Amino acid sequence: MDALARARAHTDELFRLVRAEALYERPIPERHRMIFYIGHLEAFDWNLIGRYALDRPAFHASFDHLFAFGIDPPPGQLPQDKPSDWPRLEEVETYNRKVREEIDWLIGTVPEQLRQVAVEHRLMHAETFAYILHQLDYDKKIEPRMKSEVFPGGSNGPAEMVPVPAGAARMGRTPEEGFGWDNEFPSTSMEVPEFTIGRRKVTNGEYLEFVRQGADAPFFWVERGGKWFYKGMWREVPLPLECPVYVTHDEADAYARWRGMRLPTEAEWHRAAGQTPASENVDFRGWDPVSAYEEGPGIRQLTGNGWEWTSTVFAPFPGFKPFPFYRNYSEPFFDGGHYVLKGGSPRTAACLLRGSFRNWFRPAYPYIYATFRLVQS
Ligand SMILES: [Fe+2]
Repeated sequence: MDALARARAHTDELFRLVRAEALYERPIPERHRMIFYIGHLEAFDWNLIGRYALDRPAFHASFDHLFAFGIDPPPGQLPQDKPSDWPRLEEVETYNRKVREEIDWLIGTVPEQLRQVAVEHRLMHAETFAYILHQLDYDKKIEPRMKSEVFPGGSNGPAEMVPVPAGAARMGRTPEEGFGWDNEFPSTSMEVPEFTIGRRKVTNGEYLEFVRQGADAPFFWVERGGKWFYKGMWREVPLPLECPVYVTHDEADAYARWRGMRLPTEAEWHRAAGQTPASENVDFRGWDPVSAYEEGPGIRQLTGNGWEWTSTVFAPFPGFKPFPFYRNYSEPFFDGGHYVLKGGSPRTAACLLRGSFRNWFRPAYPYIYATFRLVQS
């Protein structure tokens, strides 16, 4: 099976985890109803490959448009559409089947770069759809049977700070290094003074001390009968103190200040990366975080087991050019209102774990699988 077929199989399976009667719900107020994503993945491929690259005639122009783009509304401007504004599932499925037939027929004739865009776009949505599904009521989703994975774990202990010497951080990539999105180009370099960085991510247990001092509890926590629970993908569990805490950028930043430290910059993340193996909790193997504690030398889990917030505002590298076929991928988000995240989560596809990949979100957006670690200069 080729990469696109594998990615399709994955997203098809993901959509089947939603009970049919819940597909028109909107578990996250700032995002579209779930039915949108079922149409969006095919509409994106069709608009990119059929329409843009090959100029084929539209066979369902209103769906091409309706399902073209997701949304990222500024705070206070939530979408107001109703379930009845969206087409029936059968109509979307008919459109999707036709798109796949056409794409399979045409894909051999489009440049490799556009094929990669289609695959990675779909796999990114496999993660964003997972975090939307996370917010759907438990009785409206169907837990898949998965063989349980064993991950290295450990017990509690202080987070050691690891020194990183001064030097150049190389960010982004060159075309010779392979496919990347527009914001990964051109490759750039920046001198970074020495600093120390947490050997591991900040855990629920550590963040709990902050909450006991009066900070608000993170979005993924719930208090029941005086005890804290983590709202996992399939059930609530007693707060796993050894696992990384999922927080917003604002919460991560506040915690770091409380500890007399700060978040790493994007360049510092790059200086620290490369010394460390990725966490095994990546590429859809698990649904929730595993322990932040690992045996072994160096800085652990900079990649995997949760994205890591940086203090860097998402901005282009010098010489940035948007992809002409997808101008809205990065450029609209260079608005000073989004922060860079690095690494990857349990629900990040293997191909997106490359060091140059950049993720970004608004600083108070609480739904994503985002963790952090501390830095001191
Ligand atoms: Fe998309």
